[in-house]
Parts: sequence; structure tokens; C-alpha cells
Amino acid sequence: MKISRRGFALSAAAVAAGAPAILRGQQGPLKARLKVDTERVVGDIDPMIYGNFIEHLGRCIDGGIFEEKSPLSDSNGFRKDVLDAVKKLNVTQLRWPGGNFSSNYHWTDGIGARDQRPPRLEMAWGTVESNRFGTHEFLNYVEKTGSQPYICANFGTGTWLEAQQWVEYCNSSEDTAMTRLRKQNGRAEPWKVKLWGLGNEMDGPWQMGHRSAEEYGKFALEGAKLMKWTDPSIKLVAAGSSNYQPGSDWTAWNRTILQYLNQHADYLSLHMYVGNTADDYGDFLANSLLLDQRTKTAEGIIDASLSGQPGNRKIYIAWDEWNVWYRARGNSQRGRRILEEHYNLEDALVVATFLNSFVNHAHIVKMANMAQLVNVIAPIFTNDQGMYLQTIFYPLQLFAMNAKGKSLELFVDSPKYKTPRFDEVPYIDASAAYENGSLVLNVVNRHKTQAIEVDIELEDKQYSGPVAVSEVNGPDIKSENDFGKTTVKTGERTVAADQRRLRYSFPAHSFTQLKVKLV
Ligand code: AHR
Repeated sequence: MKISRRGFALSAAAVAAGAPAILRGQQGPLKARLKVDTERVVGDIDPMIYGNFIEHLGRCIDGGIFEEKSPLSDSNGFRKDVLDAVKKLNVTQLRWPGGNFSSNYHWTDGIGARDQRPPRLEMAWGTVESNRFGTHEFLNYVEKTGSQPYICANFGTGTWLEAQQWVEYCNSSEDTAMTRLRKQNGRAEPWKVKLWGLGNEMDGPWQMGHRSAEEYGKFALEGAKLMKWTDPSIKLVAAGSSNYQPGSDWTAWNRTILQYLNQHADYLSLHMYVGNTADDYGDFLANSLLLDQRTKTAEGIIDASLSGQPGNRKIYIAWDEWNVWYRARGNSQRGRRILEEHYNLEDALVVATFLNSFVNHAHIVKMANMAQLVNVIAPIFTNDQGMYLQTIFYPLQLFAMNAKGKSLELFVDSPKYKTPRFDEVPYIDASAAYENGSLVLNVVNRHKTQAIEVDIELEDKQYSGPVAVSEVNGPDIKSENDFGKTTVKTGERTVAADQRRLRYSFPAHSFTQLKVKLV
């Protein structure tokens, strides 16, 4: 019997196959250990990590959340069935209007009488933008969802003044031309929008108004000054890296822009999409390790940019676009029915590992936005007669509803596997949230075929009462949902725990959330 580098047994078959990506045929049940200490706190989990995103792209807004002529919509044009589903996701902040769209969006086109708003050629995604859904519609929608707004200003073709006046229009209580216009358009009280983006993906050559890091840093700084002088209470999100292509130095972009923005930005925006083009389940499931690495690297860059600076400023990371996105991607994706990914179980597991990563870095990741909310790379999918919940809806919902409070640093001792990109990937991926004496454990078993039996030991507390188990799973890693067919969903049950130790067998290819009271 051969022993792998991490000390677990390889079967003859695995050895003969030259230790393939996923170690198959190991003897006996796979086992792991997990230790929980409620005093080992990583940080407060910011509920804003459960944010989402709507862009004027494909059928996300038009034909997604907003369908004026549909019998399924209310008098505002909001699809009622979609709104109900959105509420179940407990979206804490909603980013709008893009995305790439925002880099040529002139917000004054989207206010005033709907029928008189100018249709404009939309160059990011190749359509015509009607402008029937604008600032008032967005902020009204956000109020209905119980979320808070996050507006991404146009730092592509837009001007400093446009960005400043948008803040003034939304937030000011002074009597000015902008606030008179707001009142004339039916809104007396300011909305007090707290979160504002200083542009989107300005590091990407695909972006309208793309700039070098130096140019963007200088430009964004002047915009940021005007925006904060208009309302000092707002929080600004600098457009950090989205471009990790070979040849583009994503760390240099962040370093340079923070030299300009370290006294004005409150968050550094980062984007990350992953896919399974190689159809390698093990490697695909390991993407959260890359996310961890990028978070740590970005944290170091933020620390360096603040070191030696006056005051006690903090800049946090906002992963304000993240998801699985690879099938409906590329040059063909222009027009109306675009970016319509149909998600399967393995995608849902990747989503759960990303959420674990955000929780595990709760001290620095204080915002995150799944991209996007409806139809476009989204957990909710519609047609003109109804909707269904995609596989990725379920882990997001469980996290957003339950993983709150303090993030705990876990000890995880798990068997591991190797992939083309990663030498050591733990089969068990976990995070923990602790609030008001309740422990929530989020566990992904990445193993494709085997359950893993995990001893979950408490260091400083005892289990009290039953353990509520919610499991997202399905018959196969490629299982999908569809209209009238929910194959992948959350199943619920209850198990008992000893005072100090709980042994739980996590099924193959599953995401499980355990919720239990501790004393
Ligand atoms: O979310 C889809 C697109 O991905 C966004 O418009 C852009 O910011 C990113 O490249």
C-alpha cells in the first residue's frame, strides 16, 4: 500500500492510475475531523456579503424583474413571482445598473415620464436601452425587496459632475436644481443611497472608457472627492481587478489605484467568474482555493497601501461580481437572450465553496454580490409564464438566511486530492457562523462518489438539543432544475448530537448546513 504525501492510503487502482485527479476506490469510509472553538473568531460576518446584482443586460431587468405588459407584474411593472423569489434570498444590497452597461449609462436618461425617456444604443451588450427602468424604478424595487441600493456610477464615458449630481439627486436635502428635479419626478425625501461604485472593471480592455491604472486612479480620485463632498456619509467602492488574463498584472492594478484612492475608497471591488470548460469536476470544485489566494493577496495590497498613512482608515474587499459563468460566454453573447446559464449541482457546490471562502475571510471581505439575480447567470430563471429556481439558488439562500454573526476559524483535517492546478484540495470545505449561542456549520463534501464521515468536536462548548440539517444535493453532479422540475434542492431533517461530539456523514457531492444550539 502506498501512502500519499498527506499520509492517507492510496488504493492499488489509484496508484496504478498514477494518482488520478480524484482518488477513487479508497478502503473503508473516508473520515475527517473538524474542531470548533467559539473563541477563535475571524471577524463579524457582514450581511452585505449576501448581496446581488442587476444589470441592463439580456433579460435580467427587462423580462426578468421588470416586465411592464405581463399579467404577472404589478402596477410598477415588477414581476410579482420574481419579487417573491428574490425576497427568499434575503438580498442585503443590490448593485445596479451594471456591469459593463454602467460605463456608458447617463442616469438623466432614466428619470422623468417613462414614455418620454430617450431610447439609446447600448454598446456593451448590443441592444437598445429603453431607459424605462431608471433611478426611481431601481430604488423603488430595492425598497420592495427590503434590500439596500448600491449604485455603480459611470466612470467610463461619464464625467465627475454626472457622478456628483447623481449623488446629489439621490441623497441631498438641500434645495437645489437636482433635488427640485427629484421632487418634480415624484420623490420628496432623499433616498440616502450609501453605497456607490467608482466605475466597473476599468482594468478590462472590453470596458467602454477603459483606462490605465494611473489614468483611472487620477480620474476616480477627482470623482470620489466630489461625491464625498456632496454626501460625506457615502461609502465608495474602487474598481479593482477583474482581469486575471496572462499578461495583465492584476496585483499592479490594485496597488496603483490604491495609491490614489486610499484616502477615499472604502472598498476595493474584485470580480471573479469560474467555469468547467475542461469538464474536470475535481479541478472545478477547487476554484475557491484560488479565490482564497486572491483575497489574501488583495488584503496584503490594501494593508500596504494604508501603511504609514494618517488616521485609521480601513478598506475592505467587495467581491461585487462572482459566480460560475462559462457556457453562455464569449463574442456570440450579444443581444437579448444572452448569458443564460443553466446551472447544475456541481455549480451549486462551487457557489457554496465561494460563500465558505467569504465567511472564512469575514474580517476583510465585507461585501459580495452574486452576479446576477435573474436570467443572466442567475439563481432565478423566468419565461413569460413563470419561473423556476436554479440549483445555485439553494446554497445562497441557506447562507443568506442563516450564516450570520461571528465567523469562526475552524480546524479541518480532511483527506485531500490533487488536480491540474492544485496539489492539495481538501474534500471537506467548511465555514462556521456563531450568533446568540447558535452554531451554523457550512460543509461541502467535494468528493464525487463517496460520503465522508466527519467528527465535529467542540473545544469550549457543548451541543444542546437537536441538529437541524439542510442538505443541497441531487442524483448527479450534472443534475439541473427546469420549469416544473426541481431535481436539485434543499432537503431538511434533524439528527441528535452527543454533548461534545457529533459524527456526521456528509454525502458525496453535497452541501450541508448544520444548525445547533450550544451551551
Ligand atoms: O456580469 C456580467 C458581466 O461580467 C458584467 O457586465 C461585467 O462587469 C463582467 O465582465
